[in-house]
Amino acid sequence: MIELKNVWKNFKMENTEHKVLKDINLTIDEGEFITIMGPSGGGKSTLLYILSMLDTVSSGEFSFDGKIIDLKREKEVENIRQKNIGLIFQNSNLIASLTPLENLLLAMNSRAGKREKKEKCQELLNMVGLLQKKNAKVTTLSGGEAQRVAVVRALVNNPRFIFCDEPTGALNSENGSRVVELLLKVKENTGCSIVIVTHDESIGKLGERRFFLKDGVLNELV
Ligand SMILES: Nc1ncnc2c1ncn2[C@@H]1O[C@H](COP(=O)(O)OP(=O)(O)O)[C@@H](O)[C@H]1O
Ligand SMILES: [Mg+2]
Repeated sequence: MIELKNVWKNFKMENTEHKVLKDINLTIDEGEFITIMGPSGGGKSTLLYILSMLDTVSSGEFSFDGKIIDLKREKEVENIRQKNIGLIFQNSNLIASLTPLENLLLAMNSRAGKREKKEKCQELLNMVGLLQKKNAKVTTLSGGEAQRVAVVRALVNNPRFIFCDEPTGALNSENGSRVVELLLKVKENTGCSIVIVTHDESIGKLGERRFFLKDGVLNELV
């Protein structure tokens, strides 16, 4: 479980403090599928970075499995993050000089042997229909293919929480639907929780819990 209690986030710019997140309270339980919509600049990415422990809070509490975590303690944060959290962004952010298989292997944080790791990565690529491209140049993949590699890269460490920041923002609607279907299948099969930030109403409405974030204020849609 991840819980934010009375979380504020401020950014200082030219001596004025911008309040980007205002008193956010949010609990994410195991197996939940949450969507967050809202206008650009409303704080969605900032919220997602805090949830995924990539950014700190200005005030308020962050808890993981019921334990309050100081997000400034990098070592502890990194340890929890690697074991539990997967991230997917608008652009696949694959490393262009590596193949899809190498991108997955690099992200894998496992003590298993080389062959075992390779097998698991190949299984994941197979799941998204890209096994035959495992040794391709990343630059030869289409946008949809690259994003499917990015999705399975987020799965290499069996995360309990997957956070997606506009994961279909750079895709056409067919490829976008494919990515969302894939994420939902993963949730079904593994019981992980998924949070998707999106501009796309057709995806936003799929959420089992739906939120709207505007001017730093989070509201649940009921
Ligand atoms: N590192 C930062 N430094 C200063 N301001 C930031 C930073 N990150 C985000 N902001 C500001 O916070 C606000 C919310 O940004 P963001 O979370 O990216 O919104 P969204 O993802 O909803 O478009 C914006 O006004 C943005 O300029
Ligand atoms: Mg954003």
